[in-house]
Amino acid sequence: MKNLMDKYPRVLDLLPKAKKRLPHFASEYLFSGTGYDLAIKNNTEILKNIFLTPKYVQGVVEPKLKVNLFGDIYDAPFGVAPVGLTGLIWPRAEKYLAKMSVKNNIPFALSTVACASIEDTAKHLDGRGWFQLYPPDDKSIRNDLLKRAKSSNYKVLVVTADIPASSRRERLRLAGVSVPPKNNLRTFYHAAIRPSWSFQTLTNGLPKFGTMDQYMDGNWHGTKKVKAGFAGSQMKRFLDWDYLKEVKDIWKGPVVLKGVMHSDDAVKASRIIDCIYLSNHGGRQLDLAPSPIQILPEVRKSLKKDFPIIIDSGFYSGQDMCKAIMLGANFVMTGRPFFIGIAALGEIGAQHVHDIIKDEIQNVMEQVCCKDIKSLPKEKLSINNNYYLKDLN
Ligand SMILES: Cc1cc2nc3c(=O)[nH]c(=O)nc-3n(C[C@H](O)[C@H](O)[C@H](O)COP(=O)(O)O)c2cc1C
Repeated sequence: MKNLMDKYPRVLDLLPKAKKRLPHFASEYLFSGTGYDLAIKNNTEILKNIFLTPKYVQGVVEPKLKVNLFGDIYDAPFGVAPVGLTGLIWPRAEKYLAKMSVKNNIPFALSTVACASIEDTAKHLDGRGWFQLYPPDDKSIRNDLLKRAKSSNYKVLVVTADIPASSRRERLRLAGVSVPPKNNLRTFYHAAIRPSWSFQTLTNGLPKFGTMDQYMDGNWHGTKKVKAGFAGSQMKRFLDWDYLKEVKDIWKGPVVLKGVMHSDDAVKASRIIDCIYLSNHGGRQLDLAPSPIQILPEVRKSLKKDFPIIIDSGFYSGQDMCKAIMLGANFVMTGRPFFIGIAALGEIGAQHVHDIIKDEIQNVMEQVCCKDIKSLPKEKLSINNNYYLKDLN
């Protein structure tokens, strides 16, 4: 029998199987962008136009992939981006991803609106988790979330900035996706023709917001009821620098600002927090947004040389990730690829996606004779691309 790597040597080789096992509404939830899907398509298209020029004759090359972020050493320069309503995609996904991240010493960021709670997921994280905060308007809820994450030993806080409006999610409307999911004939039909998903969902229970649910029942310290449509209601739509400073003071640990897309914001944020996370939310928020990789060189130039930059949106392979690191990112996160793996293969799918990406990075580095991931940007490579990387000299 073929081993997994021979059967699925690239993340996208898992896609047909994932699509076959996901109900239509779950698949649309995972794979849709917003508007006309321009940003999501551009995210992957733009990466195809970046090439690396190898230098050879470097003697023995045993590439080092380890990266130091906030004083912690990770075994590879990539991690799992925060994804909400995870259980709609695949039940227990947070548990699978948390375990995989600890086993392989890479970060996993738990979303505020994931289905498993801060506390339940922490049981699998060995004190190494990252927590993503959709900043609540109600500061008492915010402070409680931070307290819960801290006392559950999460290390790094990721504050998401890019939801000044909830996106229109046209494809989700068409697919009839709602939060919570509707119990109607259409949903039942789509679930019924995907038996693995339905079986897992029946044994795990319907998706819920594990962390946020307690604030939604109207009983939490007498606060008013939080609507399930979180992005448009309770979450802080208009984040400001003072709020961010307060979060940094309360957290007393590394804070990352996610969703930064402009070098002005990057420079301002770098005076308050510890790391910039370039992202267009995987093309799910502003359909007009460029790919973060298009603004990466400019942002890199505008920040101090050693100020860390994380990037995501459209990175489906180790090759893609090498390109981001080459252009000045310190670390790459990825969202959909891990869920493609889980949807296709269950728990081992998370591990397999990790193995594919790590293997690809290692191979690129060997191919270009690069001994250490840290030297990828400056020493070994150049770029063949002439239409958008004007800032790269
Ligand atoms: C289904 C789905 C749900 C997401 N939920 C969140 C979330 O709760 N919080 C957040 O900060 N980002 C969220 N994101 C954005 C991801 O963190 C990440 O920025 C994006 O997936 C990167 O693009 P990629 O999927 O092409 O790797 C979500 C993305 C997807 C696909």
